[in-house]
Amino acid sequence: MSEAFTAAKVQMVQRQQQPPQPRQEEAVPILFLHDVERHYRQGDETLHVLSGVELALWAGQSVALVAPSGAGKSTLLHIAGLLEHADHGDVYIEGRSTAILADHERTRIRRNEIGFVYQSHHLLPEFSALENVLLPQMIRGLTRVEARSRAVELLEYLGLGRRLSHRPSELSGGEQQRVAIARAVANAPRVLLADEPTGNLDLHTAEHVFRALSQLVKASGLAAIIATHNMDLAARMDRRVTLREGKIVEMA
Ligand SMILES: Nc1ncnc2c1ncn2[C@@H]1O[C@H](COP(=O)(O)OP(=O)(O)O)[C@@H](O)[C@H]1O
Ligand SMILES: [Mg+2]
Repeated sequence: MSEAFTAAKVQMVQRQQQPPQPRQEEAVPILFLHDVERHYRQGDETLHVLSGVELALWAGQSVALVAPSGAGKSTLLHIAGLLEHADHGDVYIEGRSTAILADHERTRIRRNEIGFVYQSHHLLPEFSALENVLLPQMIRGLTRVEARSRAVELLEYLGLGRRLSHRPSELSGGEQQRVAIARAVANAPRVLLADEPTGNLDLHTAEHVFRALSQLVKASGLAAIIATHNMDLAARMDRRVTLREGKIVEMA
């Protein structure tokens, strides 16, 4: 179903040609959050975190989600990534409603169509960089040989061609995060959700990781939401949104 991340597109970007542009004329967004609500009950109090979120993303489009701590960024990403259920509303992946799906179908969509990057890399410590990127593909059913070429291609694209056999503890923070990005897109998802992916990195390293991430989004035609506090990085994405009173508001 997904034509994301072909070698040809990557080569185009490496040659500094015009990457694919967001195609808003397409009728169906890759990801569409419609009237999403989420509240948490704490004793007698109800905390309304999301109250009618509307957000549509098209292929190749990157959106920065910039909002203060506690505003609901992680909650939104978890719901968009089908890790949590909304209390109301729906998440459409390529036009398909997910609210009514059985758990195993949500899991399948999450595994095949959605990639996650977190603030800390969550790589498996006893496995090499290469193995960390192989594993999601093997879980999906590819053989090690089939998975290997894509894993190597991705890691090379992210500048890690000489780090394939390094374990996470033998990598720098920026390298660990780039392996985590490669792992997130190993199964060629349509949607990439990143929760403060450069939050643990120094400014210089954050810049490097961010550039790799945004090149990959463009090259592969992913739709990406990246929660960040870094306005300089956010400024370079296609769109910036914030959460205000539980609703998505477009920023300049
Ligand atoms: N499981 C939970 N139970 C109760 N409150 C929660 C839970 N998860 C998050 N919250 C609250 O929801 C709000 C939004 O949290 P979160 O989405 O993590 O914000 P952000 O990622 O923007 O910092 C916070 O006030 C947080 O305390
Ligand atoms: Mg958070």
